[in-house]
Amino acid sequence: MFSKHSCCGHRSRTVAALFPATALALLLGFGDNLVAQSHRLEKKSFGKTPDGVEVFLYTLKNASGMEVKITNFGGRITALQAPDRNRKFADVVLGFDSVDGFATGPAAGGYFGALIGRYGNRLAHGRFTLDGHTYQGPTNEGTNMLHGGTSGFDKKVWTAKETSSHGDPALELHYLSPDNQEGFPGNLNVTVRYSLDEKNGLRIDYTATTDKATVLNLTNHSYFNLEGAGSQTVLNERLTIDANRFTPVDATLIPTGAIENVAGTPVDFRKATVIGSRINEENEQLKLGKGYDFNFVLNHPGDLSAVAVKVEDPKSGRVMEVFTTEPGVQFYTGNFLNGTVRGIGGVYAYRSALCLETQHFPDSPNHPNFPSTVLRPGKTFRSTTIYRFSTE
Ligand code: BGC
Repeated sequence: MFSKHSCCGHRSRTVAALFPATALALLLGFGDNLVAQSHRLEKKSFGKTPDGVEVFLYTLKNASGMEVKITNFGGRITALQAPDRNRKFADVVLGFDSVDGFATGPAAGGYFGALIGRYGNRLAHGRFTLDGHTYQGPTNEGTNMLHGGTSGFDKKVWTAKETSSHGDPALELHYLSPDNQEGFPGNLNVTVRYSLDEKNGLRIDYTATTDKATVLNLTNHSYFNLEGAGSQTVLNERLTIDANRFTPVDATLIPTGAIENVAGTPVDFRKATVIGSRINEENEQLKLGKGYDFNFVLNHPGDLSAVAVKVEDPKSGRVMEVFTTEPGVQFYTGNFLNGTVRGIGGVYAYRSALCLETQHFPDSPNHPNFPSTVLRPGKTFRSTTIYRFSTE
């Protein structure tokens, strides 16, 4: 089904067969060869998981040279090459060059680049009640469940399929989470599609269905540093979040249930602000979060055309804009990174990366005033997030 393309001197799979226009361009040897080079998806071994299962690394590329690498171990983004203002490419996500790097040692608990589920962020006491029934899952962070429990989606081997999305090459990952896994009800069928467009946008489409009423909150946990992975800090980068409000937390980082204005606090990113400029201010929430680690209530939920978050690196000129259909985003400044993890980019130091996890709000099943995370049989959960890279 996939044809062989020898432009780069190594075996590569193309998706030309799926795209008649691309296939035609290849046959006719069209001009600048850009069409031929752009829509490509490569696959190679990424090693074996601790359980001995071979997993793979897939590379999506576009015509302007942007490249994203994804493994079907945890659906993780392992590398993302983006250009700076001088068209110099750098890897802007924290990653590792084999599955071992992600699955073993101190990085194993860091969720680097991973798909998170069934429930992104925290569930108080690992517990929730739905339709009168109380469900109890493992508490893998103190008294709470974090990112889906002891063995969340980040540690699962997903089945992978090469496909297309909106005319762009895509990697489609699928995982069937069985009834009662980590305490969650229902067999949950999850599909996540990663695609890379010609405007340097990495798009992630999530869909899920269930056979019993359940809750879910899916996200991606990439750590970004626009100066390049391994750079010492993100505190000089500038951040804008289109959010007037956020959900404050208690000492265990569970939302108190309040939804508060950001105005007048160091959590106000409505205007572009240097991330480090207020991070050490005397502020109860910053103390509890050990830096930024908060869910922001987006002003335009469901609107994929609105820029939800913008990150700018003045040094390299790289810019990342985040678009999402989700109502919230977790902004986290790598406060638990401590230099013990070494990856492709070198040592991953304290606050040397940031996460922007588009999501429903943490612990929503225990807060009826938050947007619902309930999924019922017969309904399809859909969510889309785009990380778009440019320069200035
Ligand atoms: C959470 C942090 C947590 C981190 C783990 C983030 O989503 O908000 O509190 O430490 O994930 O990598």
